[in-house]
Amino acid sequence: MTVRFHRRILLGVTGGVAAYKAAELTRLLVKARIDVQVAMTEAACGFIAPATFQALSGKPVLTDLWDPRIPNRMAHIELTRQADAILVAPASADFIAKIAQGTADDLLSTTVAARNCPLLVAPAMNREMWANPANQRNIAKLRADGVTLVGPDTGEQACGETGEGRLVEPAALLEAVLALYPSPRLAGRKAVVTAGPTFEAIDPVRGITNASSGKMGYAVAEALRDEGAEVVLVSGPTALTPPEGCTVVGVRSAAEMLAAVQAALPGAAFFFAVAAVADYTPQVQAPHKLKKSGEPVTLTLVPTVDILATVAGGPTPPFCVGFAAESRDLATYAENKRHSKHVPLIVGNLAQRALGRDDNEIVLFDAGGAHALPPAPKPVLARQLVDHAIRLAETQGAS
Ligand code: CTP
Repeated sequence: MTVRFHRRILLGVTGGVAAYKAAELTRLLVKARIDVQVAMTEAACGFIAPATFQALSGKPVLTDLWDPRIPNRMAHIELTRQADAILVAPASADFIAKIAQGTADDLLSTTVAARNCPLLVAPAMNREMWANPANQRNIAKLRADGVTLVGPDTGEQACGETGEGRLVEPAALLEAVLALYPSPRLAGRKAVVTAGPTFEAIDPVRGITNASSGKMGYAVAEALRDEGAEVVLVSGPTALTPPEGCTVVGVRSAAEMLAAVQAALPGAAFFFAVAAVADYTPQVQAPHKLKKSGEPVTLTLVPTVDILATVAGGPTPPFCVGFAAESRDLATYAENKRHSKHVPLIVGNLAQRALGRDDNEIVLFDAGGAHALPPAPKPVLARQLVDHAIRLAETQGAS
């Protein structure tokens, strides 16, 4: 099964012999490219050392509510806000009672109480403890509170008895975690994205460029990657960190961007032209720094190749998405670009609302009309855009 990147689980380990199985679970989660942060109760540390989880997860294990490594000293809030879900495995009878009561007296119970994400609980205890009416009352409370119970299994127990209360096997726990995430729709598909500005050199130290931070293009690349696509991000000069899990090809000029896109294109199902490509480039690049003379200077600019139009005009084009950054008349210019470049989807935005900012306001233009999305951070808009493009490509049978 292909797994999305950047899935983050908080694994809570509580006291019980089955704690050793949580080590195997950590290994499986990491292998499935899920980021695992382990938090242990004091009792859990009596069964298995935090060093084991640290080695397997690649991260320090948290046990202390007052951990000085958490900058704002609010480990319980930080932990849950950074996780897609919390899985407590194994969950002891005592810890289940704490969750049922809302008790918050150590790092893990406080984190569970402060959570804003789904909670999965995998109980592990002796069969009599499991069947105990008090425990069953607590389990019923957890269910009523929307907690997902994973197990327990029935079988041989560490204490030598046989019955219900065994921790579910790590592979099945992994499946329960994977079931939280919608399956990626672009697994096995390739997507090429352009981002950032281009830089057209005048001489070795000067050039013409466009204002573009690259944030939207990088967010689109990440959204495609999170849908399971193999992403090639062709990026002009930006100050951004290359997104994990994408192949990043750094370029400078429009000509270099065109060449990199053409090299990456074979087999691509999607092409997102997010870059602010220079429309003109100096006809001549001076080999040495130009010296000032005090006289007016004339620079002859020649048009660059339109990368989007070239790709969309190819014999078997991928599903193409273009951007239109305008300063006025958004709908008219965006629709004109959609028709003239022969692309099924154009993303319109007003440059003054978008440039360099972390959020944006966009309108999607396709054959069905204009779809305005509410203002949101660029990563949110990128996910909505990718979702729209996937649906449109499906209906057109083009992806
Ligand atoms: N584009 C491209 N190659 C170019 C110019 C633009 O691939 N040489 C792409 C952009 O990445 C964007 C779309 O075309 O997806 C529209 O770009 P934009 O600069 O808004 O429009 P232009 O076609 O350049 O028209 P104008 O500058 O007149 O608005």
